[in-house]
Amino acid sequence: MRKGILSMTAAAAALALGLTACGGDSGQTTTGATAEGSPQQKAGKIGVILPDSKSSARWETADRKYLEEAFKAAGVQYDIQNAQNDKTAFQTIADQMMTNGATVLMIVNLDSGTGKTVIEKARSQGVVTIDYDRLTLGGNAAYYVSFDNTKVGTLQGEGLVKCLSDKKADKPIVAYLNGSPTDNNATLFKQGYDGVLKPKFDSGDYVKGPDQAVPDWDNTQAGTIFEQMLTSQPKIAGVLAANDGLGNAAITVLKKNNLNGKVPVTGQDATVQGLQNILAGDQCMTVYKAVKKEADAAAKLAVALAKGEKPQASGSVKDPETGKDVPAELLDPQAITIENVKDVVADGYVTKEELCTGEFAAKCTEAGIQ
Ligand code: BGC
Repeated sequence: MRKGILSMTAAAAALALGLTACGGDSGQTTTGATAEGSPQQKAGKIGVILPDSKSSARWETADRKYLEEAFKAAGVQYDIQNAQNDKTAFQTIADQMMTNGATVLMIVNLDSGTGKTVIEKARSQGVVTIDYDRLTLGGNAAYYVSFDNTKVGTLQGEGLVKCLSDKKADKPIVAYLNGSPTDNNATLFKQGYDGVLKPKFDSGDYVKGPDQAVPDWDNTQAGTIFEQMLTSQPKIAGVLAANDGLGNAAITVLKKNNLNGKVPVTGQDATVQGLQNILAGDQCMTVYKAVKKEADAAAKLAVALAKGEKPQASGSVKDPETGKDVPAELLDPQAITIENVKDVVADGYVTKEELCTGEFAAKCTEAGIQ
């Protein structure tokens, strides 16, 4: 009994310490505790740096949430911060985490250059690194956890082909709104959809329209870029947008021109906005990446590393810059259309409450969302 009270007090103190050590809403430090209230085996601290909160809703609504849940369940100390698309802040956060005792650093880089600097500094201090979602080219992180990103692109290409054929489009002009040129994933997505669409351009079934990358996945810039595309080529009949944010930027412009729903647009991330655009008939598909699985896989590696273990990854990817293999866990993405939009809700990724608001309530019922 006495021991119970003592350990509970220790846990409460640790929790209080952790919470005060890092205020602000962008970061949180905490110490996990078992159900009985006693701190679990002491492990090194895990630092996570997320990239921003505007290029996709996922980072704050999904990645942070699932990583936090996994770390809490494991009872390890962690600190998750968001660099808000600021490369200098990214490096400062990494330095602070290491000063504060992080022994594992998990990063979603803003570009390979700054990612590499962070990883090399970590390595020189004996801190193990995990590339989360984005591979840092030339970085040589100890592990990489992501989805099969080329497959994401393939699903987008195939999705667009299906929507264009449903619309019986004749020699459609297809525009590309690619992801950030600094994100290796954007390169892989493009490889995937080019693999599907290039043969169509080559055979003359489709016509290649404007093709542009959106710096930093910036949604506002995407709108400006797409506006210019549509002005220069008013007959654009399909838009390969690399994620839901870029897709929504295109849809907003299409709406102004009364073309929404007529011109299929792709996406990625199964965000509430993307799914609502699908329900409204303005977006043809999105790609659902079960971020919980990605977060769980990364957290499992990080927790083992923090405890001084040397976990094995199930596969590897080749860093195109160094030619070296990086141990990797790659998960499987899933294409989402109006037919299976309900799967994303059933999986718990978005709730019916957030998706089926106002005008979407009836559309949700039609789409079979319970
Ligand atoms: C991620 C996507 C995300 C994009 C913009 C990519 O690296 O894989 O899920 O939409 O970054 O944040």
